[in-house]
Amino acid sequence: MANPHSPFAKTLRVFRGTFIHASREEVLQVLADALLGVDAEGKIIFIGEGKELDKMSKNFGFRPSAVTQLETHEFFMPGMVDTHIHAPQYSYIGTALDMPLLDWLNKYTFPVESRFKDKSFAQKVYTQVVRRTLRNGTTTACYFATIHKDSSLLLGHIANEFGQRALVGKVCSDRNRFSEQYKETFQESIEETSRFISELLDKKYALVKPVVTPRFARWCSGPLLSELGQLAKNKNLHIQSHIAEIYDSVNVVKELFPDSNSFTDVYHKHSLLTNKTVMAHGCHLSDEELTLFRETGASLSHCPNSNISLRSGVLNVRNVLNHKVKVGLGTDVAGGYSASMLDAVRRALDTSKILTIQEPEHQTLTFEEAFRLATLGGSQALSLDNQIGNFEVGKDFDALRVNVAVPSGPIDLIQHEEPKILLEKFLNLGDDRNIVEVYVAGRRVVPFSE
Ligand code: GUN
Ligand code: FE
Repeated sequence: MANPHSPFAKTLRVFRGTFIHASREEVLQVLADALLGVDAEGKIIFIGEGKELDKMSKNFGFRPSAVTQLETHEFFMPGMVDTHIHAPQYSYIGTALDMPLLDWLNKYTFPVESRFKDKSFAQKVYTQVVRRTLRNGTTTACYFATIHKDSSLLLGHIANEFGQRALVGKVCSDRNRFSEQYKETFQESIEETSRFISELLDKKYALVKPVVTPRFARWCSGPLLSELGQLAKNKNLHIQSHIAEIYDSVNVVKELFPDSNSFTDVYHKHSLLTNKTVMAHGCHLSDEELTLFRETGASLSHCPNSNISLRSGVLNVRNVLNHKVKVGLGTDVAGGYSASMLDAVRRALDTSKILTIQEPEHQTLTFEEAFRLATLGGSQALSLDNQIGNFEVGKDFDALRVNVAVPSGPIDLIQHEEPKILLEKFLNLGDDRNIVEVYVAGRRVVPFSE
């Protein structure tokens, strides 16, 4: 009989079925017929085996009949972590992919981002991007917003309302020579960023935090980079930016900052490389720069769709992993044309295969490795791996309930398949129809309540 005195009796939720996740040691671990309990705070309080049901139910005080049982073609996996996404650019996703980065920014991005001064436009786009990414299984997103404080705060508010875990950055850029309507001075950038951070922290959202966001070294002055580095240090905040995305920037940045010997060194000299820093792209980093990443604990966000779509470069993830640099995946919407982390997994695998075509010695990434990048890797890249990334007792339950054989879904199951094959099919063929439930910190956020 259930123990009515157990502190968990009323609030504990228990799931039984297949759980698939990655760990530091194992790129893929399948827990077949597992039992997992989630407490009222959304934390995983036990993981056991299905056959221990009676014992567990007594120990933890739940009724065996209250356990949620998964079907054989279902599994739970950790929620996916999008380590780099531009929320305002969702407004033109899937279009404007006909030119390289700098032209693309000038022609499409800056005019669109300047519209986010208007909070009603921001409300519309930010609601759509949060809903879409959650439905796609992104339980954690690291967002760039725009230079506008109020609409950036609105993005934080909307993520909190929908229950998405998020880092939100008000973009800083005081050296944008290209756009008259979309720029800020050094003074404005610092003042608005300070206000943004304190106002967002004052909201005390459980899952939404600010991230210091210099757009990239090419468009930020040295004094601005220094101030932002100090701000992040004083408040122990996350930092995000772009690095070595296109080859041309590597040289331009070195010219702009003659005291630094590399692009990475520019950020390092301005105290912007910490173990809470995530830098997007890094296609054109040298091995010495990767070593500096490892030494500082900074991480990379691999954005393969964007790297290809904007013809920016090809990141060799194997080399990054060999340097023991933390790395996750990013959609980089809208340079990347998909807001799905499943797409990021596929493009990461394609990119790795292209490298092997060019250089047969190159060790191609496996789908298991890409899965780890999208989950645990992303949590490490954002220094959130003590909280999320896989199913460990004490971590928050951020999870996707995947039904590979969902009616009218994109996958036909011809025969009974083992869990690892189900995962492989989902990663390669699945979409949001297969993601029947999404949990963030134990709260079911998909399907949406309204
Ligand atoms: N570098 C500076 N800004 C951006 C941006 O918005 N997208 C991408 N892909 N690269 C950038
Ligand atoms: Fe980007």
